[in-house]
Amino acid sequence: MSTTSRPTPDPAATAGRPSPGDRTGAAAATGDVVAVSGLAVRYGSTLALDGVDLRVRSGLVQGLIGMNGSGKSTLFKALMGLVRPDRGTVLLFGADPHDARRAGRVAYAPQDEDVDPQFPVSVRDVVAMGRYGRLGPRRRLRPEDHEAVDAALERTELTDLAGRQIGALSGGQRKRAFVARGLAQGADLLLLDEPFAGVDKRSEATITELLRGLAAEGRTILVSTHDLVAVPALCDEVALINRRIVAQGTPEETLRPGPLGEAFGGFVPVEALRATGVAA
Ligand SMILES: Nc1ncnc2c1ncn2[C@@H]1O[C@H](COP(=O)(O)OP(=O)(O)OP(=O)(O)O)[C@@H](O)[C@H]1O
Ligand SMILES: [Mg+2]
Repeated sequence: MSTTSRPTPDPAATAGRPSPGDRTGAAAATGDVVAVSGLAVRYGSTLALDGVDLRVRSGLVQGLIGMNGSGKSTLFKALMGLVRPDRGTVLLFGADPHDARRAGRVAYAPQDEDVDPQFPVSVRDVVAMGRYGRLGPRRRLRPEDHEAVDAALERTELTDLAGRQIGALSGGQRKRAFVARGLAQGADLLLLDEPFAGVDKRSEATITELLRGLAAEGRTILVSTHDLVAVPALCDEVALINRRIVAQGTPEETLRPGPLGEAFGGFVPVEALRATGVAA
């Protein structure tokens, strides 16, 4: 196991990447935002996760990198309390994931949102769903809820598309709509499973900038991706997963042939690694 972690990022190692955000917020007061220990998850006879240990500090963009079937989506589901651990523990903000969900502190954008193109729900409606947990006894959106929805749409550059049906958005726009829903909710932990899948470079840059800005405000983002090239600009830290976490550290520490080979079952994606520009 080549796990490495450092309490404070080395300024030289993080040069060119924005520094991690303010860690003095409420989330930081409770310690690690995500604390997974010895987690095993089984689907019938398939052991999808086997001894996952992962800690994520607040105010970071934490990348989760692994090959197909390595357990990324299963880990997200475990963090949301959507699959039952076979062994081990999952804590969000030091408590059970259901507590964080009830308090609206965590938002999740699944890999496959399964949106019916005919489903008559606008982008604004989807983003407004982020407010539902906060509505008063009359269950109606109040002026402050509308303001939060407007702000989230603006922040994700979706204002002009607010009236469009969610199913009529492109993949990249739809990913942004789910981030917007999390923002309207006021979540301080965002779980984004493959937000760059099927997204062009321009949308990827927009999403990267958005997520960096959110981390700079002290929010915590766990994001899975296949795209190694996107990692240095996006992530403060990377966790490489292959049913367990095989390495965790800065992009400079993890995007190396040794840890990547371990994560990718012996295969080192040499071209992609070179394109990241971080390997020696
Ligand atoms: N609902 C399910 N029932 C049975 N097996 C499952 C189920 N979901 C996932 N698996 C299996 O669990 C393992 C981990 O799957 P998971 O979806 O977590 O991987 P992943 O890293 O997200 O992959 P990808 O990069 O393709 O999205 C795989 O072997 C997969 O076949
Ligand atoms: Mg997946």
